[in-house]
Amino acid sequence: MCEYCGCQSLASIDELTREHDEVVRLISRLRSAQQSGDVARMAELAREIAAVLGPHTQVEEHGLFPAMAEDFPEQIAALEAEHRRIEVVLAEAADGTTPTDPAWPDRLMDAMAMLRDHILKEQDGVFPAALAGLSTEEWEYVEATRARAGSALPRPTV
Ligand SMILES: [Fe+2]
Repeated sequence: MCEYCGCQSLASIDELTREHDEVVRLISRLRSAQQSGDVARMAELAREIAAVLGPHTQVEEHGLFPAMAEDFPEQIAALEAEHRRIEVVLAEAADGTTPTDPAWPDRLMDAMAMLRDHILKEQDGVFPAALAGLSTEEWEYVEATRARAGSALPRPTV
């Protein structure tokens, strides 16, 4: 990656965006599983969403957000609080478990509705602000965080 042309920042944001797209795709599958009353399938999809969000959230919270927290403290705190609320509901299906709480499917879908709004806030607010405002050093830090966190998605073939 070269340093000053912006490709570093675009690659980092592109990977976060592809993870958002994958999560949105999985949420729509979740909706069909709920319509057919298939809670075991919902739990499987919840695990797939959690697998994508694991490294994604690391990159946001340890790479991208620290660079933005000074300028946007309340927005970043609110996004992190939403991450925690989403993780709690997804974690109920961790380790191959199908939750037995009859309220879980609805709680999951509520959390996923929040997640979709959350993704829009990041796409329309945080990412453009980051592209406009972060320094080369900050993007290097984001990249280093990604290298540590890994990704659940296949690498792009470009
Ligand atoms: Fe995100």
